[in-house]
Amino acid sequence: MLELLVRNARLPEGRGPVDIGVSGQRIVRLAPRVDEDAIETIDAGGQLVSPPFVDPHFHMDATLSLGRPRLNVSGTLLEGIALWGELKPLLTPEAVIERALRYCDLAAAQGLLSIRSHVDVSTAPLVGVEALLEVKRRIAPWIDLQLVAFPQDGLYRAPEAEANLLRALDMGVDVVGGIPHFERTMNDGARSVKRLCEIAAERGLRVDLHCDESDDPMSRHVETLAAEALRLDLGERVVASHVTAMHSYDNYYASKLIPLIAEAGMHVVPNPLINITLQGRQDTYPRRRGLTRVPELRAAGVNVAFGQDCTMDPWYPLGSADMLEVAHMGIHAIPMTSREAMGWAFESVTLNGAAAMGLPDPTLREGGPANMVILQARDPIEAVRLRATRLAVIRAGRVIARTPTRITELNLDGRSSRLDPSEYAPPEDV
Ligand code: FE2
Repeated sequence: MLELLVRNARLPEGRGPVDIGVSGQRIVRLAPRVDEDAIETIDAGGQLVSPPFVDPHFHMDATLSLGRPRLNVSGTLLEGIALWGELKPLLTPEAVIERALRYCDLAAAQGLLSIRSHVDVSTAPLVGVEALLEVKRRIAPWIDLQLVAFPQDGLYRAPEAEANLLRALDMGVDVVGGIPHFERTMNDGARSVKRLCEIAAERGLRVDLHCDESDDPMSRHVETLAAEALRLDLGERVVASHVTAMHSYDNYYASKLIPLIAEAGMHVVPNPLINITLQGRQDTYPRRRGLTRVPELRAAGVNVAFGQDCTMDPWYPLGSADMLEVAHMGIHAIPMTSREAMGWAFESVTLNGAAAMGLPDPTLREGGPANMVILQARDPIEAVRLRATRLAVIRAGRVIARTPTRITELNLDGRSSRLDPSEYAPPEDV
């Protein structure tokens, strides 16, 4: 007897409809028809069933703190960092835990079941680290939370940042973080990249740096990061996050840099929601979009995964734990509207995020973990277009969240009808 049977599912790669049978927290059947009894059966009705969403870049210590102690007036990264500095002394572990858990409820409801969160380690006491290690333990049954030791105020700019970072790693934080473009000088930035990669290599850890989150065409720390990844053989354990300055590099330099990033085997994580708002703030017109060179990185074979970065915090007043919203913004801001690229955008917030975090391949398959999301959409592009309703979220074979199908009752000119947004999909041969 199966524990769960999901019938009539369409898979992201276009296969379907298939039935998916679950037993012992794993997918044990995936076939056009499964004729076995199950304790619980869900009819997906020919809608998309995908692996859960993944957010490889978030700041859970700051989330849901919008307006405390004040709002970011300029909307810039630098005012956001200053504002976070005002909030930090006021933080208590209880408040950080409470906000993070509220956010994780929202994430679970949206089928977002793997998150990499940076946690500030610039200043002692390590309130955020203690709080998020506790959150990680509590949410482990439904969300994989990876933590990055992030010296927000600069590894060398904040006097005790390196000691605090090492202590956070000793406490159980998973990944080495950094912010080279915020160090006092370019030279300090490059030194920080080297030191942080050496720490990761010594400890056998992954490294994920906020790298060149700037409009400065001379902010080129990603080059040093790629070189260090090669020198220390860190390869796919390295993530360069944001990398917005790459949009301001001259084309010749970018054409030399992108093959180096590919050669290093590292991942790139742009954050479209945040950087379309943070970047270009000193520009008049034309105003830069602030997204890195995603099509060119993809063409070179680099794994690119979109991250969310923030939800209602000093840097970003919006956000909703919805990785489809992130993919939707990526498509617009880059821009990339071919069918192939829009389908890829869905992968960037599922499979590619998992690869960037070093998680096992979450593709739905026999023998794989029974983690999946049933969406009110026919295929991945439709899911992005509609920011589709998550009809059911399944973790380890158990339904952990359900949302009713979005149906509008229309009454126009005396004609009553029911409107299902997923029925507006284009013809199959588009
Ligand atoms: Fe970030």
